[in-house]
Amino acid sequence: MKIFKSKTDLKKYLTEQKKNKKAIGFVPTMGALHRGHLSLIKKAVDKNDVTVVSIFVNPTQFDNKEDLDKYPKTLNEDIELLESVECNVLFVPTVEEIYDTNIVAEKFDFDGLEHQMEGKFRDGHFDGVGTIVKSLFEIVLPDVAYFGKKDFQQLQIIKKMTEKLALPIKIKGMPIFREKDGLAMSSRNARLLPEYRKAAPFIYKTLKKARNKTDSKNVNEIITWVKTKFEKHPLLELEYFIIAEETSLESVTSFESKKKYRAFIAVFAGDIRLIDNVQFKNN
Ligand code: PAF
Repeated sequence: MKIFKSKTDLKKYLTEQKKNKKAIGFVPTMGALHRGHLSLIKKAVDKNDVTVVSIFVNPTQFDNKEDLDKYPKTLNEDIELLESVECNVLFVPTVEEIYDTNIVAEKFDFDGLEHQMEGKFRDGHFDGVGTIVKSLFEIVLPDVAYFGKKDFQQLQIIKKMTEKLALPIKIKGMPIFREKDGLAMSSRNARLLPEYRKAAPFIYKTLKKARNKTDSKNVNEIITWVKTKFEKHPLLELEYFIIAEETSLESVTSFESKKKYRAFIAVFAGDIRLIDNVQFKNN
């Protein structure tokens, strides 16, 4: 696997690959790789001639300094994992390489997608995500880029950005990878204290139970049911639970036929914020 720290060197290498008509697959990450990331990378390796993975903990998408400082960093293990799945290229830039001295996010208009859910609770988060993904896309110029559906809002926002900027990049959303007990895989899971790690599968269990209630309860009743479940939980604190239409991400109060819905949740397990989602109803 080739490792690049410089965007100029990476661009030069990829320009050569493109001249030779190689298809470029790209998986942007913040490192601390887990099996969820590896499933995206394996897909990219399988479907493209050259797979590029970036590892960059992007400061402008963190609204919480402590979360940024404590974000897990496991570069040596990540390199071993990337080699085990035959990734071709790793890009690990420094903050200066990406931002120079101006560590600020560009302002984006994602047609309102950025004001829902995570956008309400993490100020400026999607401007930061848009800034880094746009800049990585400009450096890598991939044919296809892969993103996990755990961050479903991020996936929709990146699709929107790609469409608005008319970038010739196909965006692929990949299924959520879960631990055996149902907890959605996330680099932040490694930071859960044991009692919170034990409690965390309650999130997905509750989402699944809520999904099973769509025939007997209306949207508001399901929301109330979920809120009550978390109010009674001794460790987990619910930040939001909403049911939204998949494309607009706008919350709904009833289901219409032929539309796709998803339930989205954010929960604090001690200091660690976990998010998850499930598809809800597909008539
Ligand atoms: O999902 C992530 O890990 C990050 O938000 C991303 C897409 C790599 C941008 O920093």
